[in-house]
Amino acid sequence: MVRCHSRRWFACQRQTKMRHGLFITLEGIDGTGKSTQLRLLVQYLKKRGLPVRVTREPGGTRLGERIRKILLDSKNTHLSPLAELALMYAARAQHLEEVIRPALAKGQIVVSDRYNDASLAYQGHGRKLGVATVRAFDRIVSGRTQPDLTILLDLAPRLSLGRAVGRQSRRNSNQGRFELQGLNFHRRVRRGYLAIARKDPRRVKVVPAEGPVAEVHARILNLIDGFLAQRLTGYAPDSTWRKTE
Ligand code: TMP
Repeated sequence: MVRCHSRRWFACQRQTKMRHGLFITLEGIDGTGKSTQLRLLVQYLKKRGLPVRVTREPGGTRLGERIRKILLDSKNTHLSPLAELALMYAARAQHLEEVIRPALAKGQIVVSDRYNDASLAYQGHGRKLGVATVRAFDRIVSGRTQPDLTILLDLAPRLSLGRAVGRQSRRNSNQGRFELQGLNFHRRVRRGYLAIARKDPRRVKVVPAEGPVAEVHARILNLIDGFLAQRLTGYAPDSTWRKTE
């Protein structure tokens, strides 16, 4: 499939008689403030007049949300790492077919709270299944549908875990199976994420997640504006964006 990565994005799409949107993912260990940052980012993109489709993993579809409940249920202590990985990819397969690929085909900007880097970091590194096993699933399920930009919120687990566990207990929820994994697990996950970023620095941008929400948001906007200016003809950060072609 031809991908339009030039500055003349819409012109390229027209010439190749295909449409393809942009795929942005947000990642990070639990408790980095990712969901807050995602909400602010989506607000910003919508204010700019961009066609945004916001979604999340595991989940994003009716079936995927049911799978999510199983995966996050802290009562499911006996779920094997490989079963966990397979469920992540079952939800992802449904998500790709129902939501992500159709939205990209319509030329939308898909913003997903987590995607396949989470499987590499959590199951590959955290659960020690290894990168090769996760990549084998990924080749079959995600195939060529890979993110164009990934924002990786980075925070030391000793800071993030306190936030994540506090959030779960405030919600009085039993959906905290990953938050309960402890410090060493989250250290491996973080190392996994940082290894992914080192391997693919063009796509994966590491954003320090410490500091006030507004400061972290500003760091993200800096990256997003640079990325969109490269990919969208006529994009200007301070104005409402319109298709110029
Ligand atoms: P979140 O949506 O609140 O970030 O929680 C989702 C949890 O699922 C989080 O702890 C990370 C975990 N997860 C994986 O372990 N592997 C994956 O592939 C995905 C998408 C999420």
